[in-house]
Amino acid sequence: MNDAQPEVAADPGDGPPGNAAVSETDAGRVARLDSLGDRDVILHTEGITKGFGALLVLRGIDIHLRRGEVLGLVGDNGCGKSTLVKILCGFHRQDEGEIFVEGEQVAFHSVKDARQHGIETVYQDLALIPALSVYQNLFLNREITRFGPLRWLSNKKMRQMARQYLDDIKVQVSSVDALVESMSGGQRQAVALARATVQESKILLLDEPLAAMGAKESALVIDLVKDLSHNRGVSMIIIDHNYQHLFELCDRLNVLQEGRISLDLRVEDTTMEELTALMVAEYRRRIMLGHQELRV
Ligand SMILES: Nc1ncnc2c1ncn2[C@@H]1O[C@H](COP(=O)(O)OP(=O)(O)OP(=O)(O)O)[C@@H](O)[C@H]1O
Ligand SMILES: [Mg+2]
Repeated sequence: MNDAQPEVAADPGDGPPGNAAVSETDAGRVARLDSLGDRDVILHTEGITKGFGALLVLRGIDIHLRRGEVLGLVGDNGCGKSTLVKILCGFHRQDEGEIFVEGEQVAFHSVKDARQHGIETVYQDLALIPALSVYQNLFLNREITRFGPLRWLSNKKMRQMARQYLDDIKVQVSSVDALVESMSGGQRQAVALARATVQESKILLLDEPLAAMGAKESALVIDLVKDLSHNRGVSMIIIDHNYQHLFELCDRLNVLQEGRISLDLRVEDTTMEELTALMVAEYRRRIMLGHQELRV
């Protein structure tokens, strides 16, 4: 079903973050140029477009993600963040544009294809099976791993491996035999993250991993994300509407507006206040544009 978005003409240009007019930046283009000579870039895209029927959601997305980097994706509801993540994990196919993993162009026809390139996704609904235990969820549908074909593994071995891995990444669950349905939202999210990384995935895509979580539960997941990035070198793209979370977790932020990356900011170069001011300024600009269009 299409949620029709107001069609607003894009107005890219150049301008540093901090200029009130977000529309006067073309950081997507800058990001693309930057990535081309950067051997540390593990994932990048060029000119990704995607529409659903008459609705053109993504209009030429250039992003790049470096090894071990945590990149936050910011933007209004319905701007296309999840759509971009779904393209990067092989769930949707882009209409145009290219995806590169470690500089090699890739074509994903399924989530499995993306997984084979080390890209794992944790969706908001987690895709865990509530009626199964922690260890069963951890190894569900994972037939080939670094441990060999799992179908030959005994339950005892899987339990041991689950316990060891959860201890390694400091996820506390009382028992690997506990059913997921008996766990809190934060614990479930931690198990989902463990599941996504147990096979040493290189790139993790997290779509609102902290949604609807209290402070304590969020802290649990935030610590895990930090551990995976700092100690295991996992590169991540995180979608979150909460700037506080993003500033705590991310190295860099990309703002998605009107189907393009309108801003590419290193967290250390900006502040929450500045980002809020930029987003509010852009919101007002769009309201003004809407008013002008109405008057014509
Ligand atoms: N499968 C689909 N079929 C038709 N339209 C879709 C589909 N998926 C997404 N859309 C539309 O594309 C637009 C972008 O949706 P998307 O879910 O990517 O937004 P989002 O930025 O993740 O929003 P939110 O912050 O609310 O999660 C929306 O208008 C949505 O209705
Ligand atoms: Mg979304």
